[in-house]
This record gives sequence, C-alpha cells and structure tokens, in this order.
Amino acid sequence: MKGVILAGGAGTRLYPLTIVTSKQLLPVYDKPMIFYPLSTLMLGGIRDILIITTPEDNESFRRLLGDGSAFGLRLRYAVQQSPRGLAEAFLIGADFIGDDACAMILGDNIFYGNNFSRMLKDACENAEDNGHATVFGYYVKDPERFGIMTFDEQGNVTSVEEKPAEPRSNYAVTGLYFYPKGVSEMARRVEPSGRGELEITSLNEMYLNEGRLDACIFGRGFAWLDTGTIESLIDAAEFVKMVEERQGIKISAPEEIAYRNGWIDKQMLLSSAERYGRSPYGEHLKAVAEGRYYSNIK
Ligand code: G1P
Repeated sequence: MKGVILAGGAGTRLYPLTIVTSKQLLPVYDKPMIFYPLSTLMLGGIRDILIITTPEDNESFRRLLGDGSAFGLRLRYAVQQSPRGLAEAFLIGADFIGDDACAMILGDNIFYGNNFSRMLKDACENAEDNGHATVFGYYVKDPERFGIMTFDEQGNVTSVEEKPAEPRSNYAVTGLYFYPKGVSEMARRVEPSGRGELEITSLNEMYLNEGRLDACIFGRGFAWLDTGTIESLIDAAEFVKMVEERQGIKISAPEEIAYRNGWIDKQMLLSSAERYGRSPYGEHLKAVAEGRYYSNIK
C-alpha cells in the first residue's frame, strides 16, 4: 500500500501568510499542518509515502521531514507545477505507485476520532483484497462547498458530484481516498472539468460506475477539519489545543505513532525529541520514550 499527500496549491485564501511558505507548513497549534495528514496515513499502517508540493516549497518539506527515517517511513517528493486538479496526483505519482493500491490525502485535511485507525486499515484491505475504492463521508451544513455523495439505505454510494449548486445530500466527500491498484491508469482517463481541473470526483465516478466505490461514513463525535481559510485554520488550532490540554495528549505526532507501531526504537524517538529541543512537542516525545506518559489511551 502506497500513500500520497497532495500539498500543492497556492493557498491564496490565506495570503499574505502563504506568500513565502506553503499552506501545509503553517502551524496548526503546535505542529506544522503536514504532520496531521502524515499521521493519518501512518495510522493506516502506510509507510511508503510521496509528498507532492509546489516547485517553490519542495525544499522546505524535505528540510522538515527528510527521507522519513525519523518516522519509520520511506518518503519521496514530487512537484505539481500548477494546481491542475487532485486527480493529477496519480499521474505525477504513477512511477512511485507502480502496481500497488494507493491512498491519497489532501495536505490540509485533519481527521480526529475514535476507531479511526481501524477504519483506515479496513479501507486498505478493501483496496488490496477486494479491488474497491473507499471514500469517507461527513455530514456538513454547507455541502455546496465540497464534493458530495448520496447513498441508499444499505450505505451503497449512488452518486458523487463536485460542488453542486443544489446539493442532493449533506454528506461531503472528505479529502481522503483509497484506491486499488491501477489508479494511475484510471486517472489518465479523467477529462478536465469545466474549471479545467482533473477532478477527484470524476475519478470517483469512474469507480462508482464500475461498482467499485465504497463509502465509510464518519458519525457524530468525529472531527473533520479543513484549514484552507484563516477562520478554519484558527478553529482547527483551537480544537487541537483544547483536546491536547484536556487529555495531556498530542494529536498527530508522527514520531509517537511510529514508536507505537514499532517502526522506530526508543533511541530514535529520543533523537527526535532532541531535535525539537525544549518545545512542548519535544518534551512530549521525550516523555513517551521514557515511559513517563500514559500510553494506553485507546
Ligand atoms: C477538494 C475536492 C472536494 C472535497 C474537498 C475536501 O475540494 O475537490 O471534492 O470535498 O477537497 O477537502 P477543494 O477544497 O480542493 O476545493
């Protein structure tokens, strides 16, 4: 199973914040935004990950994340020359993906909730063993802002549509997608939309037409946040701050996930802690490594 994080885009809605840096490197409370989608893929057990950025920002991501060994990962980097649509990720990543199933997550999508890791692993299995794609639905009050889906009473997807003026449901398709092997060939057949982009929704529609698109719906109590505007960026930071302070945990700390997955050892975790010095994040990693942290929270 491969993973792709799409972290391109000009981030114009966040100007001037994103004039000289990538949106996905901005802070969401105590860590860079990219740590959240990276953690999501890791919770699904995915270790081979391609990070796609703008040409200008590629080097900054490399400086932050390196070859991935600190996270027990094999990271690769690629560039999207201009924002030509989400489905282009599978063309850019065709060589990297090869003949494997592949998950994709948008670099500004934050997921947090109970049982998430299980859902991700199920989606991996569904792609690898059944040859089916999985998308994740979330009830929102403003569905016209998103790709949306409808489904029948058995939970089978019946339609997907990109930002319809009059949405037929309130279920947004979130920015996390799992596809079986062959996704790059499928993406090559996507035609540009009216706005000139290779839409992920068109790709999803192809799987739907083949009877190979499944949906997993996040219920009440699950948090899906996006961070594309100033307001939503601050909301996400406040959410993370509130949960972390209340429980004394860190949400989406990739090194901690790697350690718990057995991908890095105590020594490596301590080296990462050292890299981050006496910041709360660094102190947290140190506490985890030294067993001073209650680790059995499920
Ligand atoms: C993209 C997708 C949309 C999806 C959304 C999730 O929209 O096109 O289908 O619901 O991400 O974040 P964008 O936010 O890039 O306009």
